[in-house]
Amino acid sequence: MSAHEELNADPLTVPEAAALLRAGRVCAFPTETVYGLGADATNSDAVLSIYETKGRPRFNPLIVHCADLAMAEKVAVFSLLARKLARFWPGPLTLVLPVRPDASLSDLVTAGLETVGVRIPDHPLALELIAAVGRPLAAPSANPSGRLSPTTAEQVRRGFAGRVPVLDGGPCRAGVESTILAVDGDEVVQLRAGALAREAVADAIRRPVSIAASDAAIAAPGMLSSHYAPTAKLRLDAVAPEPGEAFLAFGPPPAGQASALNLSPSGDLHEAARNLFSALHALDATGAARIAVAPIPETGLGEAINDRLRRAAAPR
Ligand code: TXA
Ligand code: MG
Repeated sequence: MSAHEELNADPLTVPEAAALLRAGRVCAFPTETVYGLGADATNSDAVLSIYETKGRPRFNPLIVHCADLAMAEKVAVFSLLARKLARFWPGPLTLVLPVRPDASLSDLVTAGLETVGVRIPDHPLALELIAAVGRPLAAPSANPSGRLSPTTAEQVRRGFAGRVPVLDGGPCRAGVESTILAVDGDEVVQLRAGALAREAVADAIRRPVSIAASDAAIAAPGMLSSHYAPTAKLRLDAVAPEPGEAFLAFGPPPAGQASALNLSPSGDLHEAARNLFSALHALDATGAARIAVAPIPETGLGEAINDRLRRAAAPR
């Protein structure tokens, strides 16, 4: 039996996962947003394995996951404004900050940029794992490049055909990736909409949070227009399914559509975000050639949900 088969027979424990990561191997782990494909952020060979495992076509910078603020401060330089934003940690927020010259991160993590994306995830197993490894973990979402992000351990196993060890923490609470904010002097720019609503951040820091123009100099380089894609094609803002289409509903179902898969029958955007990737995985598995998706309001977490849907629907 191979090491992976043994790992898959028994659920992986935190000390076992930490031992793999300390030895330079990759290991998937749960966060509150989606599952991450983790590796020791200070070990270039380990970080390279992330790209190989995902089949990522090019080197996008990776988010560095820390166990606490002390660890994050060894990686990035925090301004006063950055410190204010760090009050959302642990939580679904990634801050793009100047990288510390003595951070001892692999260059592959920052892709040669002078900034680094850092976050402290709000998941007890993730925090326990990072603390047990004792080093920051680089982790993109634990899916093959361009495919749907996983929100359960089972989706990770299926995505990589059982080749990746997974620390199972149950389904992810938020269900969409973290919000990415760049802090540039007095300015806060959202590079990626995510599980923390832009309005909530703006309220907390009492200043506006602008949305990065898609051609801005400080854009998240990983924001490819086609991304998070299921195998089926997507049709957005659909009022009802056409023949042969699977339907993904949102909000109170009109009579006759009660049986459709619904992101949130009550119209709750948090619930919809949590269910988004799992619903797309499930409808994709039905073999339908096209998935019609009901309109989602563009407020609060609707910004992140619509962003992921538009990318999933983009021509590829
Ligand atoms: O919720 C999440 O953020 C998940 C979990 C696992 O933490 N991770 C995640 O990672 O979504 P990934 O690799 O799929 O997305 C990372 C994004 C990419 O779009 C990348 O370009 C951007 O973060 N990014 C990372 N470092 C950056 C930097 N220094 N400057 C600008 N963008 C950066
Ligand atoms: Mg991803």
